[in-house]
Order: sequence, then structure tokens, then C-alpha cells
Amino acid sequence: MEKIIIFDTTLRDGEQSPGASLNGNEKLEIARQLAVLGVDVIEAGFPVSSQGDFEAVKMVAKNIRGPVICGLARSLKKDIDAAYNSVKHAHRPRIHVFLATSKIHMKYKLKKAEDEILRLAVWAVKYARRKCGDIEFSPEDASRTEKEFLYKVIEAVIEAGATTVNIPDTVGYATPFEFGELIKGIKEFVPNIEKCVISVHCHNDLGLAVSNSLSAVLNGARQVECTINGLGERAGNASLEEIVMALRTRKDIFSGVRAGVNTKELCKTSRLVSKLTGLNVQANKAIVGSNAFAHESGIHQDGVLKERITYEIMRPEDVGFGETRLVLGKHSGRHAFKERLKKLGFAIKEDEIDKAFSRFKKLADKKKEIFDEDLETIIDEELTMVPEKYRLFHFYIASGDQVKPAANIKLKVDNKILESRSNGDGPVDACYKAIDKITGARGRLMDYQIRSVTSGKDALGEVSIKVASKGKCVSGRGASTDIIEASIKAYLNAMNRLSYAAKHLNGL
Ligand code: KIV
Ligand code: ZN
Repeated sequence: MEKIIIFDTTLRDGEQSPGASLNGNEKLEIARQLAVLGVDVIEAGFPVSSQGDFEAVKMVAKNIRGPVICGLARSLKKDIDAAYNSVKHAHRPRIHVFLATSKIHMKYKLKKAEDEILRLAVWAVKYARRKCGDIEFSPEDASRTEKEFLYKVIEAVIEAGATTVNIPDTVGYATPFEFGELIKGIKEFVPNIEKCVISVHCHNDLGLAVSNSLSAVLNGARQVECTINGLGERAGNASLEEIVMALRTRKDIFSGVRAGVNTKELCKTSRLVSKLTGLNVQANKAIVGSNAFAHESGIHQDGVLKERITYEIMRPEDVGFGETRLVLGKHSGRHAFKERLKKLGFAIKEDEIDKAFSRFKKLADKKKEIFDEDLETIIDEELTMVPEKYRLFHFYIASGDQVKPAANIKLKVDNKILESRSNGDGPVDACYKAIDKITGARGRLMDYQIRSVTSGKDALGEVSIKVASKGKCVSGRGASTDIIEASIKAYLNAMNRLSYAAKHLNGL
């Protein structure tokens, strides 16, 4: 098995993500977690860029044991000095020197000819090598560099002492087959290439960073530069978690290579990086997104409950995710619904499940995700033993700061629809008065409480009340995403209890 060196550049290229800036302590915290994750190299920063970054890289170098600690430098003396002075405290320091080699960069950015670039690259590597035994060189914008010139530069920097040559697709322009061919060409046409490790560094401008990196591995690259959550300049870099899990999940394709990363730490690392950079991970992000192991479709949930591998190619626990989440929503089926009730400890008969399931479907049409608390409320209401003499058929309210609140209520009472309207001090009072006109109960509200059963703006609200009437006091509960509807349901629940009690019980 050949090892794929995982070079993490979250703290350098990742920190170049617009909006993500990390202080020294934050970098150290992430570096600690990267060491636990088991990455091979940590590129901790670009030391010459600021005193703060210099100190941060130094702190990482002094405190983190295990991975190689690397600092980035342009091919300039002051950059190489700063990089060395910050990483020299590490057990295994590395200096990463870069210089652009594409025609576009040489002409417009550096304003230098090929000869001068070649000379500078060789000088920089030799200078860095005098300070440190582990030198990486990157011909920036390699994927847009003339092949012959690229081979020449690579050969020369290896001769000068580079131990790793990194091939960056700086602007994310390459496509997988093409990038794989580039690596193949380098292996074939650079005579001394066996003296160094070939690395790749792909940007994600076309969403191809991971594919390009994997194609490079298939063609001989043995170091992959990547970042947690795919952070990085512009659209980011190849995502570390995707690279590692692709190598592991598709061993049939990537036979003979392995990455020594502790995948169970992936989610934890992703969350830490997201928290400290302030950059959220999109829900559908592969491997670490909150939906990466969540199934909502009834067909998928049914499949996963029968046999996980029907719809899951990785085990969530292998990336530290906890367990598969079956999200109950409008696409969910009876199987998942029943399983969740079982998990919640409800032993319910089949005919009762039907009733509860149809209630669940109605709620799921109004609300995106149904939480366990929603289910408890449904079950509580569906399985109540009190017969429903009064059932809400329709309601309409008018309310506002310039109108007197009014309600129009239609109830189904013993299979007849009865209608009534009333004004009130507020919309709930108007509804209750209109209901009283139908039931003739004239209830006195002794207590009224409302609480959100679940979280979010579309939460299910539960109303609990106490109503006194004709010398009796009963409670009532109702739930809905509409609090007026929940209030009406609670009142009708209380009315049903009153009516039941009047008929069957001698007082409550
Ligand atoms: O994208 C790039 O080319 C880089 C180099 C410094 C390696 O980040
Ligand atoms: Zn980059």
C-alpha cells in the first residue's frame, strides 16, 4: 500500500476564503484537531504576510507534534526567511516556495521572461534548502503552463533540492482527464521525477477540485493538498473529507493507495473549522453536511430501514456523524413513521397508527420537518379517549389594531354543521364566544398557556387551557402551526370533556 500524503492547507489557503480570518489561538485550536484527525502536513500560514500570521505559524510549530508543519513563501529572500523562522521550532518543518510559471502570470503579473523565472525558482529552492531539509516547490498556475517549460522547471527545482513538487490548478481550470494526463506527462518526461513526491493542489472554480485531485492520484500523485469543508480562495480547494472518503469508499478504484486519516474525526473537525471561521457548511455538503446522512423520501427510508446499504454508501459513524437520520416530513412513509413511534416508546395498535399517520401527513404538508415532540402531541391528541362531539370544521377571524376582533366558526356537531359568529376582546376571545353560542356551555377561561412545541418559525404551537362551566373545571389541549386554530382546538377539547363528563361521570 502506498501512502497518500494528506497536506492540509485549511490554515493557509482555507484562511484565504473571503470572510474567514483566524487569530493565532484559533489556528492553534484547529491545528490540534488536524493532528488528532491524523493529517500528514499542516500548512499553517503565510508567515511573511503579517506579524500575526508569523506568530500563529510559530505557535503551531512549537505546540503541535505529529504532522509536518509548513509555511508558505514566495521566491523571495524575506519570504523564505520568515517561513523558516516560523516553522523552525517544529519537529518536522517544511518550507513551501512558489513561483508562477504560466505565460499569463509571467507576462502580466511578474513581468519576467522564462529564463529569469527558471533562475529565480532554482535560486529560491537552493536558498530554502540551505535552511531546511524538507522543501516543497509549486509552479503556480501549473495547469495553464506550457508543458515543455513546466517539465524544465520541475527538473531544475528537483536538481536544486526540492523534495516535493506540487502541481497547482491555481484557477480551477483543469478537467479530470486532462489533469490526470498532466501528472502522467510529468512522470514520463521529467527525468529526475522519482527523486521527489508529486503533489497536487486543485481549486474548485468549476466544482472539479476533488475529481481533478483523484484523477491525479490515479496517475501517480502521492500528496494531495486539501482543506476542511473545501475552504479556500474563491470557490475553495479540494475538500479533505471528500478526498479521504472517496479513497476509502472506492478502494476498488484506488487500489494500492491509502490515506492514514482517522475518518471518525472528520465531522468534529468540520464543525470546529466552521465555528471558528464563521463559514457555515451547506446542508447538502458531501460527508459533513447536516443532510449528508439524512433521508426524507418514504421509499428511501423504507429501504434504509430494511437494509442500510440500499441508500447509503458510507456509514455515518465512520465519519463521526452519529447515526443515519430519517427525517420525518411530507415525503415520509408509514414504515418510518411507525419506527419512530416505536423508538419514542409508543405501543400503538395498527388502526390507531392509521389515524395518527393521516394526522401526521396533514401536519407534514404545513410544516417542513416533523420533530419527535410533534409526534408526541399528535399521539396524545389522537389517542385521547374523549369522544369528539364538537369538531372544528372552519374558522375565520378578523383582527387588527383598528377593528373589533370578530370570529366566524363552523363546527361539526354530531354530523351536523353549525355556524356562529361573535365579537370579542381579542381573536381568541371572539372564537370562544362564538363556540359558546353553539355549545351553550358559556365556559370561563381559568388558565391559558401557549408554548412552542418545536423550534423554528413554522413550529407547532400547543395551547393548554382550563375552562370552568356549570360548576365543573376541565382542561383542554390543542396543537397547530396556527395559534388561533390551536386555541380553538384546545377549547373544543375542553368542551368535549365537559359534554362527556356531563353524560358519563358524576362530576369531575
Ligand atoms: O493555488 C495556488 O496556486 C496556491 C499556491 C501557493 C500553491 O495556493
Ligand atoms: Zn491555492
